[in-house]
Amino acid sequence: MLVAPSILSADFGNLKSEIEDICESGCDLVHVDVMDGHFVPNLTIGPMVVNSVAKSSTKPLDIHLMVENNSFFIDLFADIKPRYISFHIEEEKHPHRVIQKIRDLGISPAVALNPHTRPEEIEFLIESLDMVLLMSVNPGFGGQRFIPSVLEKIERVKDMVDRRNPSCLIEVDGGVNDKNISALKRAGVDIVVAGSYIFSNSDYKKAISSLR
Ligand code: DX5
Ligand code: ZN
Repeated sequence: MLVAPSILSADFGNLKSEIEDICESGCDLVHVDVMDGHFVPNLTIGPMVVNSVAKSSTKPLDIHLMVENNSFFIDLFADIKPRYISFHIEEEKHPHRVIQKIRDLGISPAVALNPHTRPEEIEFLIESLDMVLLMSVNPGFGGQRFIPSVLEKIERVKDMVDRRNPSCLIEVDGGVNDKNISALKRAGVDIVVAGSYIFSNSDYKKAISSLR
């Protein structure tokens, strides 16, 4: 299981040392939540801060866009060269075009689905994706409770991935902890995002290895 701490729950007053700590604690990716106050009722960080995060990080960045106007934001973050950029399917009329735009920038494209969004929405996109991000809370905030019906959705997406693009990874984001991690693994998840579970633990290394 790959582990991507979400820095949304980090201490933003000490962001540099927080990033260094999670990287030294053995995370695989650093998950960065970009919110615009329109697609979700919260506002986070833009390219200046994400650039500083990238400089402090020894691990690749996983940028999760929760915004309107995906193309505009992709251009803003392109120079930072994250490993992944994910955008929400609920917010995009032309997903193939956006996926190709991300790939042309040398970044791995991923599509995110809100907890209620049907897996069929991405059935004809899976061939062109490197990752599917399944939200297990409604996006916007850290520290929310995991929505259990997502487990069934993970199994359905896993089946689609196996049939159409076995190299496409499945990432789950929201309410992940040491209680639900085994069920997530059994359902077919490759990468978990965890914010409050890791950052509320005084020992990041222990929290990350307990998930792994
Ligand atoms: C929510 C974000 C998540 C969030 C996860 O909109 O996409 O990445 O930080 O936080 P926890 O793990 O606390 O649910
Ligand atoms: Zn996220």
